[in-house]
Amino acid sequence: MEMIDILYKKRNGEELSKEEIKYFVEGYNNERIPDYQMSALLMAIYFKGMNKAETVNLTNAIINSGETIDLSMIKGLKVDKHSTGGVGDKTTIALGALVAANNVPVAKLSGRGLGHTGGTIDKLEAIQGFSADLTIKKFADQVNSIKFSLGGQTKDLAPADKKLYALRDVTATIDNISLIASSVMSKKLASGADRIVLDVKTGSGAFMKDIDQAFELGRAMVDIGNGVGKNTVAVVTDMEQPLGNTIGNGIEVREAIELLQGEGSKDLLELCHYLGSYMLLLAEKVGSLDEGMEKIQEVIDNGKALDVFKSFVQSQGGDIKFIEQPELLHQTQDIYEYKALSEGYIHRLDAELLGKSALTLGAGRLDKSTKIDHKVGLQLEKKIGDYVNKGETVITVFYNDKDKLDGALELLQESVYISDAEKKPRKIIHGVV
Ligand code: URA
Repeated sequence: MEMIDILYKKRNGEELSKEEIKYFVEGYNNERIPDYQMSALLMAIYFKGMNKAETVNLTNAIINSGETIDLSMIKGLKVDKHSTGGVGDKTTIALGALVAANNVPVAKLSGRGLGHTGGTIDKLEAIQGFSADLTIKKFADQVNSIKFSLGGQTKDLAPADKKLYALRDVTATIDNISLIASSVMSKKLASGADRIVLDVKTGSGAFMKDIDQAFELGRAMVDIGNGVGKNTVAVVTDMEQPLGNTIGNGIEVREAIELLQGEGSKDLLELCHYLGSYMLLLAEKVGSLDEGMEKIQEVIDNGKALDVFKSFVQSQGGDIKFIEQPELLHQTQDIYEYKALSEGYIHRLDAELLGKSALTLGAGRLDKSTKIDHKVGLQLEKKIGDYVNKGETVITVFYNDKDKLDGALELLQESVYISDAEKKPRKIIHGVV
């Protein structure tokens, strides 16, 4: 088999066989196939697409490029949740505790990620001492004892995905449904979950800007999961404006803690109710979505979810002083209040631009070597549809470096649009696949 023949085939819009897909994934992973040929193939896939069988074969080839994790030592049905990524997405942090407090094991492997803010691990590392560097035994023991553990994804899990993703990132081939679906699902399936709940984001801060495409991506991933016998549900959710009221690392952990204390922002709470309820449903803990929602609210009201979160943080070395005084998580040298220049309704709070603004402050990284500033971030005092008076604060900026503030403010200015015309709040849940 020759790579050039595979390139001709996909360029001409033909279906690739299982063997051909295995050949290029293995070849690229083993560095036999050079970047220039792989880049050409990715672009051909981007334009010509892959059908369902090809997408499943690509997923399996990526899984087989590395090790798979056996979670059978953890008792009960393990349900994993994955988001396709967005701005201000602290759901995993709150949801882990909400689901675990309902006695469903949450064995979560997360990444650090490159982007506007850190990934879930970076966010939790805002809690002094917290570490996701766990042996598989400690990881499993912790899930068995307190039902919630969060470890770092090992480099041996779906290694071909890491290489392919890095190449896609620099060849404008990220936002293709088959490539995203196989990338996400290969990692989920290799991590040993029994059931999977996917949060597919759509809007300005998501890969899938278009809602129909988001549903298509959800469908592709559900087909892959169900196809290998892992019951999978995808919820398509809004990412036109950031999720909740905060963007950053420590500041997002604070918002997750507030949710567990019953004070969370409305959209984040609704999303946690929805995703949490699906997790309980797939884990066979409840018989209906409504019952699941009640159970999620119950562990907020009776304080169980917050207790689980404290045990989880303590068990992974974190100082619970930061849970008792969460404002310490984003104590910066200074704050700046970005005020409305006119009165009216908030029409736009562009998730992507606000994410870039947080990145400019130092909340994220564009390459692996950048050190994140865990304390900086943005707090949205208003959301789309809210009324604001002239001079009222729309966004509070927590910053440490004055030199970075000007760039961040320029992006803020661009991201906010206020008008006289009334504006409806955006809904958070667009539908379920
Ligand atoms: N998240 C992933 O893990 N992979 C993609 O391709 C896109 C989002």
